[in-house]
Amino acid sequence: MVGTFSYETLFSEDSTDTPLNPVAHAKYDFAVAYPAPETLPMDGLIQALQTAVDSNSEKVLAEMAYYPQQLGALELREYTIEKLKADRGFTVTPEEIALTNGSGEALGLVIQALTNPGDVVLAEEFVYMGTTNQLRRFGADIRGVAIDDGGIITEALDKQITELTAAGEKPKYLYTIPEHQNPTGSTLSGERRKAILEIAHKHGMPILEDDCYVDLRYKGEVQPAFRALDDSGIVVYVASYSKLLAPGLRLGYFTCSPDLMRRALSFKIGSGPNQFAAVAIEGFLKNNLDSHRDNFNPMLEAKCNSMVAALEEQFGDSGATWSFPEGGCYVWLTMPEGADIASIRDEVFEQGVGYVAGPNFEAEASGRIGQNCARLCFAFESVEKNAEGIALLAQLFKQHGVM
Ligand SMILES: Cc1ncc(COP(=O)(O)O)c(C=O)c1O
Repeated sequence: MVGTFSYETLFSEDSTDTPLNPVAHAKYDFAVAYPAPETLPMDGLIQALQTAVDSNSEKVLAEMAYYPQQLGALELREYTIEKLKADRGFTVTPEEIALTNGSGEALGLVIQALTNPGDVVLAEEFVYMGTTNQLRRFGADIRGVAIDDGGIITEALDKQITELTAAGEKPKYLYTIPEHQNPTGSTLSGERRKAILEIAHKHGMPILEDDCYVDLRYKGEVQPAFRALDDSGIVVYVASYSKLLAPGLRLGYFTCSPDLMRRALSFKIGSGPNQFAAVAIEGFLKNNLDSHRDNFNPMLEAKCNSMVAALEEQFGDSGATWSFPEGGCYVWLTMPEGADIASIRDEVFEQGVGYVAGPNFEAEASGRIGQNCARLCFAFESVEKNAEGIALLAQLFKQHGVM
């Protein structure tokens, strides 16, 4: 028997020891970041694949036999362009859009193309950690931008950029999730978007727009995409089929100016994304987008309403506040200052309720803010379980002395 081979002296300097977290679900799981498996249109996707094979098997087989081109399947790119035109009000050519392995890959490619170690990058002060993890991985010095219930506070943004620039730390770009923000659930108004674009031009600072949740709106008016308000190239637009259909498909996309696209793709490893998934998505959505959204979004709304009603009932006189989003997957709970719900997260998870504590989303990772906050995903559990889980959460918070 030979002993276990050790890599200890062989690891590259940039490699980090990454914990391999098996997915664990609490009884009431508000920690996840996706809708319930039973809401995924599996039959429709399978049917779409079958139809594609039956109607044009030679073409489908030929495409499957080759490595997908770097920009990804042409049909899905063309479909995506039509969807963007109809839903988001802007037009791009098939060469200006790249399909990626989820929008996480798109974000990573753009981040690598724009970020040198030490570069200052702005983001909402609480923001999706998948992006901040990537930003940090590539050396960005992330600074949080002040937000309120309506997202980025534009005056604060302008002042911050002016001050940073004066201090020799001019921000390279702004990352923002304008619709149904993760984790706060807020949506930027059209007015704020226009003001942010003006600020961006004034300071020569691109906007990395993450429109991941735009399809998940169940009430109110969709706001214009930054990209629809500005075609100068200052906006990089990223979106995904993960939340509309299924994260397991691993299909997202981005569009940006051609010079940036070429730089971003220089970091791409391997070919375009999964052709099998691309055929299924295009085939399904071209016939079923509206009916899918009409079926899916009312379910989300009912789930959001049941969580918010339960919060009103259980947390109503606790001094806590919470967001009441018009779409997306998340309610942002803010307990009174001093209520540390971050340090009891693991115990509460074991006792039956999962949530993601505020510090995980803090852009600057100072560890000094967000201890009294939590992201609660209302999309995964049923209407009934949302209500039961919030009741249990209130009980557990009382037991732990934070409420
Ligand atoms: C705001 C935001 N952007 C991007 C992603 C990445 O999603 P995907 O890579 O599945 O498209 C997520 C996933 O939770 C997200 O919340």
